[in-house]
Amino acid sequence: FIQKATNVTEQNHHVSRTKRGKMLGNVFRGCTIWFTGLSGAGKTSISFELEEYLVSRGIPAYSLDGDNMRTGLNKNLGFSKEDREENIRRVAEVGKLFADAGYICLCSFVSPFSEDREMARKIHSQSNLPFFEVFVDTPISVCEKRDIKGLYEKARKGLIKGFTGIDQEYQKPEVPDLVVKTVDSSINESMMHVVEMLEENAIIP
Ligand code: PPS
Ligand code: MG
Repeated sequence: FIQKATNVTEQNHHVSRTKRGKMLGNVFRGCTIWFTGLSGAGKTSISFELEEYLVSRGIPAYSLDGDNMRTGLNKNLGFSKEDREENIRRVAEVGKLFADAGYICLCSFVSPFSEDREMARKIHSQSNLPFFEVFVDTPISVCEKRDIKGLYEKARKGLIKGFTGIDQEYQKPEVPDLVVKTVDSSINESMMHVVEMLEENAIIP
């Protein structure tokens, strides 16, 4: 049992988003792009490709990835429903800070539960920061065939319990901001659809 903090009040920064934007290329572009999808769908690949694309053009962007967060900030969490929720909550809070700092924050997490993704969205909307949910829609048959990390094979053998799509559910996004297919298209092509979405929403020129 952990005693929760009481008597805490929000402290307001002196730096406005406009002022912050001036320092970062004259515009505030802070937002979070949330990639969700099965293991092996292509979340990390698209996110990292996009990070490179944006940074190469002088646009501040930073990727937060499941595998990486789980070796650092979230190393005390597993893959139960509760732990996944806490994983998403922490990452959404970190994403919010990156976005508030003026970065395009790219979050790539399986995030299989709709209510957790909704929580992530809410964490951003409460701070008036744009949030885009991108469903990396790759069929499980394809993910399993790719099996880059050999995790599906392990899950089929019962060596990994609670593996998304095998013995734990993946709740498909009902109304994502964008659906990206990865079958018959390159990582770059998939990434460009996200770029188009950012252009349409005036996040990038
Ligand atoms: S979640 O659901 O959002 O909390 O998961 P996430 O933080 O994105 O971590 C997923 C990566 O962890 C590896 N892995 C698993 N994925 C799903 N289910 C189980 N049980 C599991 N165990 C380990 C796997 O490498 C995931 O990365 P990706 O890039 O999705 O393949
Ligand atoms: Mg990944």
